[in-house]
Amino acid sequence: MRTEAENTALAAYDTVAEAYAETFPDTRAELPVDLAMIDHFIALLPDGPRVLDAGCGTGRMLPYLAARGCQVQGVDLSSEMLRCARRDHGEFPTRVGTLLDLDEPDSTFDGVFSWYSTVHSPDEELRRIVAEFHRVLRPGGHVVLGFQSGSEVIAVGERYRERGLDVTLQRWQRRAGDMAEVLAECGFTVVAQMERAAVGMEREGQAVVIGRR
Ligand SMILES: C[S@@+](CC[C@H](N)C(=O)[O-])C[C@H]1O[C@@H](n2cnc3c(N)ncnc32)[C@H](O)[C@@H]1O
Repeated sequence: MRTEAENTALAAYDTVAEAYAETFPDTRAELPVDLAMIDHFIALLPDGPRVLDAGCGTGRMLPYLAARGCQVQGVDLSSEMLRCARRDHGEFPTRVGTLLDLDEPDSTFDGVFSWYSTVHSPDEELRRIVAEFHRVLRPGGHVVLGFQSGSEVIAVGERYRERGLDVTLQRWQRRAGDMAEVLAECGFTVVAQMERAAVGMEREGQAVVIGRR
């Protein structure tokens, strides 16, 4: 059964899927330093790694990972986001599922890529999700999480409402150090963390943390 936070995220992303795919078609929203953290994550993996894009949304990051040698597959709550993923990036397998219970055997993946997919999860769900990432990674595997930095829970969706889309959604900002603590509590060794200030149209700073199982 889905949690209240998941139901809220599901309703919101089913509503904004097309607008999201149009606004974020690829990695143009990422700064070089963000992509450098992703590249570092990939460099920590073995050749031809099996990577789960956990919360893949419209699948915009799948080609980036695949172009760097990853064997990727995606999972997401929102069937509308996945409809866009299959239309725009149909060469990659994707399926509906929850990060709280990944429906994968233990030690399946070399890497778990969680790019802004835990930002709608309250702290107790974040811990469950990170523990799930730990379970599906093989020993020595790596996880990377990208998220907005800060320490507030903010209401988002204003930019979508300006486009006539009826969206209610909350986002949990987190400090890189706090995310690193959650990873450590779940059994990861934190191998890199980065936090940067907002740039251009961004309203919040951004953070990336990488852990090794
Ligand atoms: C901000 S979008 C990021 C999508 C994609 N990773 C990207 O970088 O464009 C957040 C995504 O996480 C998904 N999501 C949120 N909570 C989830 C959960 N508990 N299980 C699975 N997916 C979830 C949403 O459906 C949405 O597609």
